[in-house]
Amino acid sequence: MAEPRPRVWVSQPLFDDIVARLEAHFDVDAASAITEYAPAEIARRLAEVDGALVTLNERIDAGAVAGAPRLRAVANVAVGHNNLDLDALSAAGVLATNTPDVLTDTTADLGFALLMAAARRLGESERWLRDGRWGQWSFSTMLGADIHGSTLGILGMGRIGRGIARRGAHGFGMRVVYHNRSRLPDDVEADLGATWLDFDGLLTEADHLVLVLPYSEQTHHIVDAAALARMKPTATLVNVARGGIVDEQALAEALSSGRLAAAGLDVFEGEPAVRPELLALDNVVLTPHIGSASLATRRAMVSLAVDNLIAALGAGPHADDPPSPINADAVVKTRKATDRKR
Ligand code: GLV
Repeated sequence: MAEPRPRVWVSQPLFDDIVARLEAHFDVDAASAITEYAPAEIARRLAEVDGALVTLNERIDAGAVAGAPRLRAVANVAVGHNNLDLDALSAAGVLATNTPDVLTDTTADLGFALLMAAARRLGESERWLRDGRWGQWSFSTMLGADIHGSTLGILGMGRIGRGIARRGAHGFGMRVVYHNRSRLPDDVEADLGATWLDFDGLLTEADHLVLVLPYSEQTHHIVDAAALARMKPTATLVNVARGGIVDEQALAEALSSGRLAAAGLDVFEGEPAVRPELLALDNVVLTPHIGSASLATRRAMVSLAVDNLIAALGAGPHADDPPSPINADAVVKTRKATDRKR
């Protein structure tokens, strides 16, 4: 008898024409409507499949994979993967993949857009105009901070951070300073026009600070009240990374007291909920996690996730060699240990 085809679950509606590529290899159960899953529902879905294509909204943890003996791969349609418990996946021999590179420039664009919108008060200006208040115009209406020629601070100098550095240094003549666990090689720093500073130096020197570092226990609330107090009162803070990096209550207080001039936030600790204190403020620009949301990039992300899943399940031209695995080494170890026990 022919082997049954592997089964895969696609947790949300994505681009049908791209997801359809999975059907050449697998039996596909794809969500046809946007769905919010309870943890037990995720576990129930994973229990029945060999692979899954999921978004940031689905948390895949030890409980989710505990009853999923067939599960071998989870392809995340995002570069960040704090929705995946990698230790649990690795221990269960499940390969996780993500979608780096394809979204770098689109997300760097959005970071820059938020920086400009916040520093130049675009959201506030537009609301003011729509409110019919232009008749109250004066020479000091909506004065903001310059971008060109100022000091751009970047916390986290991975691919997206470098994209933002390039825009700032080469497009806007900014002095770029950054902080990262490891310093970039001299030639990369020179190419980006970027200078490494310690965290405190970054906070105190930046006219505008963009957060682009991954979320982890170590980076939780790294920008807290004390960090905000070190920043210039004229500064702008932009977060296109993950909400939990910033203490949002402290940020709301700093923005409301004038301790900090402006902020642009694309990510929130409790998203899709946004703190009422932030919603009430005029000097913060708020967007609903749209960093990678251009049509071309979102399609490229789904395409890469589909390639990852096909390969991770041993099919297609790159069988067993997916383009962007996250926990490959740990999974190999688990699988070897499991084989030895057999
Ligand atoms: C978006 O936030 C991503 O991690 O891709």
